[in-house]
Amino acid sequence: MDFNLTEEHLMIRDAARDFAQTELLPGVIERDEKQSFPNELVRKMGELGFMGVMVDPKYGGSGMDAVSYVLIMEELSKIDASASVMVSVNNSLVCYGLEAYGTEEQKQKYLTKLATGEQIGAFCLSEPEAGSDATSQATTAIDKGDHYLLNGTKNWITNGGRAGVYLVIAQTDREKGHRGINAFILEKGMEGFDIGPKEDKLGIRGSDTHTLQFNDVKVPKENRIGEDGFGFKFAMKTLSGGRIGIAAQALGIASGAYELALKYSKVRKAFGTEICNHQVIAFKLADMYTEIAAARHLVMAAACKKDAGENYDREGAMAKLYASKVAMEQTVEAVQIHGGNGFVKEYHVERLMRDAKITQIYEGTSEIQKIVISRSLIRD
Ligand code: CAA
Repeated sequence: MDFNLTEEHLMIRDAARDFAQTELLPGVIERDEKQSFPNELVRKMGELGFMGVMVDPKYGGSGMDAVSYVLIMEELSKIDASASVMVSVNNSLVCYGLEAYGTEEQKQKYLTKLATGEQIGAFCLSEPEAGSDATSQATTAIDKGDHYLLNGTKNWITNGGRAGVYLVIAQTDREKGHRGINAFILEKGMEGFDIGPKEDKLGIRGSDTHTLQFNDVKVPKENRIGEDGFGFKFAMKTLSGGRIGIAAQALGIASGAYELALKYSKVRKAFGTEICNHQVIAFKLADMYTEIAAARHLVMAAACKKDAGENYDREGAMAKLYASKVAMEQTVEAVQIHGGNGFVKEYHVERLMRDAKITQIYEGTSEIQKIVISRSLIRD
């Protein structure tokens, strides 16, 4: 089904597909092994407009819609989910957050560089004791007049070492609960801001994930985003859009694995014929294709709601919940179809299976998506 994609949509999808095949595929196994990702590839993604897909061109963005964004995310994720998580965090959490809620000065100073890929951003909400329970922020930002004094620790920060700009959520007044939380813009190199070692992860190993430490970091007042106390809602709103990006990432991982499994099943022979001719494999392919198509419908529905300017909290959470489940289940099937070869790195499916798991964890676990969906159902 083509979802009535425009010529522009097809062009950007093809550009992302071409980039993934020619630039991301070579070296993807080595990057996964070495936990590395060259800046050169980030720069190229910036040149193609992938780092600020939905940002207004006046701030250096591509000015495209959410449907274009999910098409790009799916194509990149089919080949390299480490590349697509960098794109996702930069677009959905950092660029969107600044464009929607930043001041004109903040946009000129930070967004213009982030949207072009000159710099990359990180979104810092999670803490050792505040992952899903985002209101329990232990990081504090004390109002000192012309600046805030920031202290605390952030965990599992995507782009944590590579970023130049960090959006950090912190508690400014514990008495006020979620209304006492604020979001701040930090720059790499600020005094007292330390970046811990890179995490050694199961999947998305090319992307860098770090713990960040803040020890009496002086954050200028003008670096707060929005009104005093807006930080929790800021985080919820940005995460809501982020879920569409991660749903598209999960969709891409699943469809990448399916494409490999289909291709393999047409050449691998067993019991005198290609294995796709055995019903046990053919039925697996049918299930995979159907599940992936259903996930794609949910992802596109969420993106279309966003493009229509309607509330997409529920649709984004549904897309993420379902697509991440499909990614996990169908990458396991892709490994199974490959048999022993599926367990070997050069066939790519084992990496996709490892990458799939994170889609059920970040931007809120599957249980968090169920909270968001069920609350919206009960409220309406
Ligand atoms: N938009 C606007 N406001 C929202 C909102 C939204 N989508 N969701 C909640 N709010 C508001 C509520 O209206 C409420 O405001 P009022 O009191 O003024 O009415 C306030 O926020 C508090 O809402 P809740 O009572 O619903 O808050 P809660 O404590 O029950 O938490 C939650 C809700 C959905 C569980 C939330 O904590 C959550 O989303 N947690 C998951 C956090 C998460 O995704 N962490 C992952 C880290 S980031 C990441 O993974 C990035 C990366 O690097 C890839």
